[in-house]
Amino acid sequence: MAAEHTDRGPDVRAPPPEKKNGVSVDRLTHAEVPAICGLFKRVGDAEAPALPAELAKAWQRSPLEFTSRMEGITYFVARRDGRLVGAVGCESRHGTCHLLDLAVDPDARHGGVATALLTAALEWAKRTNLPTVWADALARYPAVPGLFKKLAFVEAGLLHRHQWGEDVRLFERVL
Ligand SMILES: CC(C)(COP(=O)(O)OP(=O)(O)OC[C@H]1O[C@@H](n2cnc3c(N)ncnc32)[C@H](O)[C@@H]1OP(=O)(O)O)[C@@H](O)C(=O)NCCC(=O)NCCS
Repeated sequence: MAAEHTDRGPDVRAPPPEKKNGVSVDRLTHAEVPAICGLFKRVGDAEAPALPAELAKAWQRSPLEFTSRMEGITYFVARRDGRLVGAVGCESRHGTCHLLDLAVDPDARHGGVATALLTAALEWAKRTNLPTVWADALARYPAVPGLFKKLAFVEAGLLHRHQWGEDVRLFERVL
């Protein structure tokens, strides 16, 4: 069956979600937009004291702001016990898969949620025939290097004072 292109990127059919540690990962539905904004707010509130104001604000998006920005981005969300506990966006950019908005609820960390989300993102990139997957992350986030290395990404560089004075690390996985 030919892939159908929508404004959210190619609609490449995925197998039904698998559950690991009680966590299932699937595409975001429109009904879940308020829930994903609530998740980003909780993550932002946890990070805010350490972040420049501009970056702290980026986690605080209203459903309208989120919806207007999500065009062309495929979001995966992780659910546990019916609750949305994590998210990642996959954007097809210049023939690569750019990951953005990776976040896990502070109450749900260290349980493999981000690992499950990134695994779904890598599968989506493969199905979409994108040859590389990359992400940029604030160097100050402590969990990020171990997380990406666990999934066979390599650290591809460091951009100094790249986002409101914050250093940014680049991670890449060639599929
Ligand atoms: C980064 C983040 C998404 C990780 O989510 P998570 O669900 O807790 O991650 P996982 O449980 O899948 O952990 C996978 C690996 O990440 C690393 N890791 C996770 N938390 C860590 C921490 N606090 N310190 C160091 N390494 C950590 C470990 O290598 C871990 O592997 P292990 O469980 O075998 O030790 C989460 O901490 C988060 O939302 N942080 C704030 C926002 C952020 O940093 N976003 C990423 C931007 S790219």
